[in-house]
Amino acid sequence: MKNIVAPSLLSSDFSRIKEESERLNASAAQWFHLDVMDGVFVPNISFGLPIIEAFRKHTTKVLDVHAMIANPDPYINDFKSVGADILTVHYEACTHLHRTVDAIKKAGMKAGVALNPHTPVSLLMEIIHDVDMVLIMSVNPGFGGQKFIEHSVKKVRAVKAMIDEFAPDVLIEVDGGVTVENAPRLVAAGAQALVAGSTVYKSADPLKTIKALGNA
Ligand code: DX5
Ligand code: ZN
Repeated sequence: MKNIVAPSLLSSDFSRIKEESERLNASAAQWFHLDVMDGVFVPNISFGLPIIEAFRKHTTKVLDVHAMIANPDPYINDFKSVGADILTVHYEACTHLHRTVDAIKKAGMKAGVALNPHTPVSLLMEIIHDVDMVLIMSVNPGFGGQKFIEHSVKKVRAVKAMIDEFAPDVLIEVDGGVTVENAPRLVAAGAQALVAGSTVYKSADPLKTIKALGNA
């Protein structure tokens, strides 16, 4: 597969974590995307450290943790100890983003920075060299199943141009409303990792849908 596919476990059945993991282990998905929501930074509460730890017990795939929480700093080492491989924090949630990114890397994880739909790509200029990944939110964070914001394609293109010029190893991930229909446009714009919740979980054949996203 040419693109990384990261199914969002927010849409999965938490009473069947073992079965869910086994199903995805047998799929072409390279990452598990785990959405942590605190009811403060976003208007929803999802799950926290114990659920990440439970998925960790049943997979060796990359755990891609998306922290939609107001103050991630006190929990960085906890995310590492429950098995996160990538920890993405929000630009809008971190007053001292450079310090946070540094702490994530020092804890032994890859560091991602996410941008909400209204946050300009240009704000990444002074941090792009320090991150491993940029996550472009293509919906307002908080819920699965929302409609894709088309302007996100332009943002992916803008962040790709910045990365090509200043930090060529940084990955681009897109999250929110990703479908088999819009994935080719996102990949053409520079996205390398596609998060997909409802597209995978509502599909008649999730494994086939994961493959289609990976080859978009
Ligand atoms: C939204 C989350 C997403 C969500 C994606 O705030 O960050 O990861 O689960 O779900 P879909 O693919 O249904 O938009
Ligand atoms: Zn997410």
